[in-house]
Amino acid sequence: MTEQALLNEIKALIKSSGPMPVWRYMETCLMHPRYGYYVSRDPLGREGDFTTSPEVSQMFGELLGLWTASVWKQMGSPPSLRLIELGPGRGTMMADALRALRVLPPLYQGLSIHLVEVNPVLRERQQATLSGVRNSITWHDSIDDVPDGPSVILANEYFDVLPIHQMIKREDGWRERVIEIDPNGNLQFGAASEPTPRFDVLLPPLVRAAPVGAVFEWRPDTEIMKLASRVRDQDGAALIIDYGHLRSDACDTFQAIARHTFADPLKAPGQADVTAHVDFEALARAAEDVGARVHGPVTQSDFLKRVGIDTRAAALMQKATPEVATDISVALKRLTDTGRGGMGSMFKVLGISEPRLRGLAGLSDLEQAGGN
Ligand SMILES: C[S@@+](CC[C@H](N)C(=O)[O-])C[C@H]1O[C@@H](n2cnc3c(N)ncnc32)[C@H](O)[C@@H]1O
Repeated sequence: MTEQALLNEIKALIKSSGPMPVWRYMETCLMHPRYGYYVSRDPLGREGDFTTSPEVSQMFGELLGLWTASVWKQMGSPPSLRLIELGPGRGTMMADALRALRVLPPLYQGLSIHLVEVNPVLRERQQATLSGVRNSITWHDSIDDVPDGPSVILANEYFDVLPIHQMIKREDGWRERVIEIDPNGNLQFGAASEPTPRFDVLLPPLVRAAPVGAVFEWRPDTEIMKLASRVRDQDGAALIIDYGHLRSDACDTFQAIARHTFADPLKAPGQADVTAHVDFEALARAAEDVGARVHGPVTQSDFLKRVGIDTRAAALMQKATPEVATDISVALKRLTDTGRGGMGSMFKVLGISEPRLRGLAGLSDLEQAGGN
């Protein structure tokens, strides 16, 4: 059965090569060349597995378009700008952003669009969504392939799919968390046979003090460093929006989502979206280390309110039928909901930029959003 194919392949790999680190398991689930979750399907929307902010409302992409315009002005209105999106899903956010940008011809006419996408099914979907756009659109496998030049980079729910390492604290130190096979032949979590030497030296103090049994997750800084050095050297800014925590802390957030509900990440590899929260403190630190300026992070609710979501919603509602006006009001509430687990507080927004750009719209150099 195809659904079992990846599970069987992972079990065979573990039997031949030993327990598999969580990062390798996550990478295999998402990117296996044949059965990987992001290689074979469109997972978005009501009939899919999850719904993202751009799919909740056009307002989200439109406001990111206006944010792009304000950054472009701060950059000194360069005659050409690369608008890069990482992991553009169905292309909805880009379509909405471009519609908002059309009112500014000096920027719109100089825009080239660059979509970094690995999923062939979603690439086709993006092509269809953006078929009416006359600007040049290029697809890339990696940001490394996007030509040099001033740019604005947008990434919504992109970093959470990049594989994480999980470490588990034992009496004798931190060990890499692994996936192994239990006596009944099912996958289970375990720990490497030896601690990773001197791992705790690199840890933030809060994490170092975690009790035995605590789990700490980290991602390699490779991707954020690429974005930071690009905007530092070639001018521009990046906006990263994702669910995650403001401060590095010990927690296990490795999760699977299928059909809009949480699933066991070890049950059906390749059949569910496996993700982990984003550590915004780690992203900010890595960006600063390469010499980019960091803005925020702030909560999604604060960001969207500061860039004018209430005004935009009111304008749309004025022209809408009562039914559509209700939809707009529900979407506004959903995107900015700061209740427990709400998108407005779960999601954080981080800006990084060329160092001379200060006070980017919706973000703040001075204040940090409260909570975790
Ligand atoms: C959770 S979806 C978010 C989609 C979209 N940004 C949105 O908000 O609706 C993740 C996106 O990243 C893409 N993706 C996953 N891994 C990737 C990788 N390593 N490189 C480029 N894109 C990737 C997926 O195909 C998908 O488009």
